Order: sequence, then structure tokens, then C-alpha cells
Amino acid sequence: MNSPKVNMSIQAAKKVNGLADPTKPFSSFMKYNKNDLEVTFHFIKAPAMTTFLKDKVFSMIKDNMMETYKKCPWGWNGKNKRAELFHKDASDNSLAAFVHFRFDVENLIEVLYLYEIQIEKNVRGKGLGKYLMSLLETMAFHYKMKRIVLTVLKSEVDVVKFYFSLQYEIESYSPEDAFYYILSKKKKTLELTKN
Ligand SMILES: CC(C)(COP(=O)(O)OP(=O)(O)OC[C@H]1O[C@@H](n2cnc3c(N)ncnc32)[C@H](O)[C@@H]1OP(=O)(O)O)[C@@H](O)C(=O)NCCC(=O)NCCS
Repeated sequence: MNSPKVNMSIQAAKKVNGLADPTKPFSSFMKYNKNDLEVTFHFIKAPAMTTFLKDKVFSMIKDNMMETYKKCPWGWNGKNKRAELFHKDASDNSLAAFVHFRFDVENLIEVLYLYEIQIEKNVRGKGLGKYLMSLLETMAFHYKMKRIVLTVLKSEVDVVKFYFSLQYEIESYSPEDAFYYILSKKKKTLELTKN
């Protein structure tokens, strides 16, 4: 049986997950116009996604990640990846980039769990990833989540560096001998500026 504290965390995550659109208070930040990019972000719950959009999102993940996954113990399982991506609580946005996140309880506390951040190859290095991370952090702490949590493969040295540069830290319960890190951030340090 869960402790009353854990039950409160479960309720807190459930409540935010139940919102029709958790990005609503941040509508003026749902765009990125910088470094020759003009990107608008849309929040869509997985069941509302068209097959066309699902296919686009899936091919971006496959294009970005299949070779990396094949080299690690998880391997590449397209069927499982699709199931995880289009879970009923999943949220994904545009085709230049997308994030997949869920409000959840992880290690007994309420968190925003980031499952995926994917930026199209030709728009990387233009600040979009950093901006999206900042938007997610703003949202997570607005809804009183205690942390942002994510998993990253140790072999992806550059991606690990990307998260470290955003002040993510290795979680105390991240298994030392695993091929991945569990990273988290406890409070927001990046400023979200309209652009
Ligand atoms: C990792 C990823 C999300 C970064 O997004 P991005 O839009 O290219 O990154 P940004 O342009 O916002 O860069 C932000 C900062 O991180 C640094 N950075 C980004 N990618 C980097 C890389 N591959 N190597 C080293 N530094 C990197 C940038 O130099 C920048 O630093 P600065 O603020 O000091 O200039 C993107 O490269 C990506 O989608 N990769 C493939 C998918 C993936 O691996 N996702 C993560 C799964 S856990």
C-alpha cells in the first residue's frame, strides 16, 4: 500500500495529466522564431493524432534513433516504440521537432517525465532543443512537479553534454553499471523569453 504522501503525488500527476491542454497558460511561448527558424508548437494528445501525423512522428524517431538503439541493449523495436509513443496520455507536437512527455510518479514523487525530445536533423543547433527544454521546465514547475526526469544513453556523449549544459544531474537512483543515465533537474534555471 502507498503512503499518504505517495498517494498525494499520484493524485497531483493525475490531475495535470487530465487537463485538456496543459500548455494553455503558455500559449504566447508556443513558437520559436530565431536563427532562420519559424516554428509553431501544438499540443496534441495521442488519441487525437491523425494517422498521417503519427506516421511522420514515428519516421522522425526512426530516422534519428534507430541506429543508436540498435547498438544498445534495448535494441530497436518499432512496434513497442509506436505503442509507447501513442499511449493515451502522450503529447507530441510538430514535425520539425517534437517532445513526448507525461506527468507521472517516479521514485515516489510527482515529475514531468520526458520520454522523447527529437529535433529534425536539418534544424539542430539553432537553439530549438534548448528552448523546448525551457518550455517544459516552465510548465513542470508551474504545475508543481518536483522534477523533470529523463533517460539518456551513455553512448550519446553529445546528448549527455546537452543535458549537463542545461544543469541536469545524474539521479541518485540512476544505476551505476547501466548503459543509460537517469537524469533530472529539480528547479528551473533557464529563462523563457518570448521570441
Ligand atoms: C539533442 C537535441 C535535442 C539538441 O537539440 P538542438 O536544437 O540541436 O540543440 P540547441 O541548438 O538548442 O543547443 C543547445 C545547447 O546544447 C549544445 N548542443 C546541442 N547539441 C549538441 C551536440 N550534439 N553536441 C554538443 N553540444 C550540443 C549547443 O551547443 C547549445 O549550447 P549553447 O547554448 O552554449 O550554444 C537534438 O540534437 C536531437 O534531437 N538529437 C537527436 C535525438 C536525441 O538524441 N534526442 C535525445 C534523446 S534522450
